[in-house]
Amino acid sequence: MDSKKRMSRREFLVSAGGAAAGLALASTGLGALAPSAGAAGREIPEYPWVEYFDKPLDVEKVREMGVQFFSEGQGCCEAAFRAITTALGEPFNLIPAEMMNFGKAGVVGWGSLCGALNGAAAAVGLVFGRSQQATAIINEVVGWYCQTALPLNAEVKSVSDSPLCHVSISRWVKASGMKASQRGPRCGALTGDVAAQTALYMNEVLAGTFVPVIAMSEETKACYDCHVGGFVDDTIGKMDCAPCHEGH
Ligand code: HEC
Ligand code: HEC
Repeated sequence: MDSKKRMSRREFLVSAGGAAAGLALASTGLGALAPSAGAAGREIPEYPWVEYFDKPLDVEKVREMGVQFFSEGQGCCEAAFRAITTALGEPFNLIPAEMMNFGKAGVVGWGSLCGALNGAAAAVGLVFGRSQQATAIINEVVGWYCQTALPLNAEVKSVSDSPLCHVSISRWVKASGMKASQRGPRCGALTGDVAAQTALYMNEVLAGTFVPVIAMSEETKACYDCHVGGFVDDTIGKMDCAPCHEGH
């Protein structure tokens, strides 16, 4: 990688003879405009950062870290985000993963988007920014989550058919006979699986081998074509319609 790209803004200012300008900013109380330090007290380089993702992630290590961080009480969203950003290293791990804590249990208990998906998607967004790759990877992870029996290595797995925490938990409760409040080990394992699957797709994009395979069911596709951007054009969404609506 080009060493210039890796330079932080402060290094740039200094090497361009801008140190005096930096001091001037500080003394006029505009120091806040100078480059700031990240979580580990390190300088944060200019965004975008996609070039810093230059070697494949250790998928199994990401899975382990997701499980571990969840077990430490970080919540599904923070744990998934931190597992991926830790594996990515700098500068990604300079972003405080705590900001993702809000995503737990579908955004502070609202049961909306599964926090593991939310956290993993945020990590993808941090790497790929406003790009087709980000959209394609996140789309694939969400589709995979809906259609896959999870957690992958658990005795009791369930297919959520939905990216919603509410639906995902309820279907696992039905499948396992457990209480929702006993979901800890299940959600920990699922967090690891979601982070790992995301890392896998990221690696494939890096290698140029990524091929999206997740497709909408025929049934939902028919509803979608009329209602989402079709001639009715009165709603949004790629979730399966059947769990919530009867056909007509
Ligand atoms: C051929 C196009 C078409 C398809 C396919 C289609 N819809 Fe509709 N849908 C309509 C139209 C037209 C309306 C009436 C819209 C209006 O009154 O504004 C409607 C109404 C609805 C409504 C509003 C409540 C109601 O029953 O009137 C819901 C909910 C709905 N559709 C869901 C679905 C779902 C779920 C599917 C797939 C199983 C589906 N639609 C497939 C065209 C379609
Ligand atoms: C998680 C549950 C859920 C899913 C999944 C879902 N919907 Fe809905 N949908 C709702 C709710 C709740 C409303 C609001 C209903 C109301 O206000 O009466 C709604 C409203 C609608 C309406 C307007 C209904 C009306 O009476 O005018 C349409 C059309 C619709 N959905 C179509 C779809 C289609 C097509 C899909 C699949 C691509 C889908 N929905 C997936 C829950 C869902």
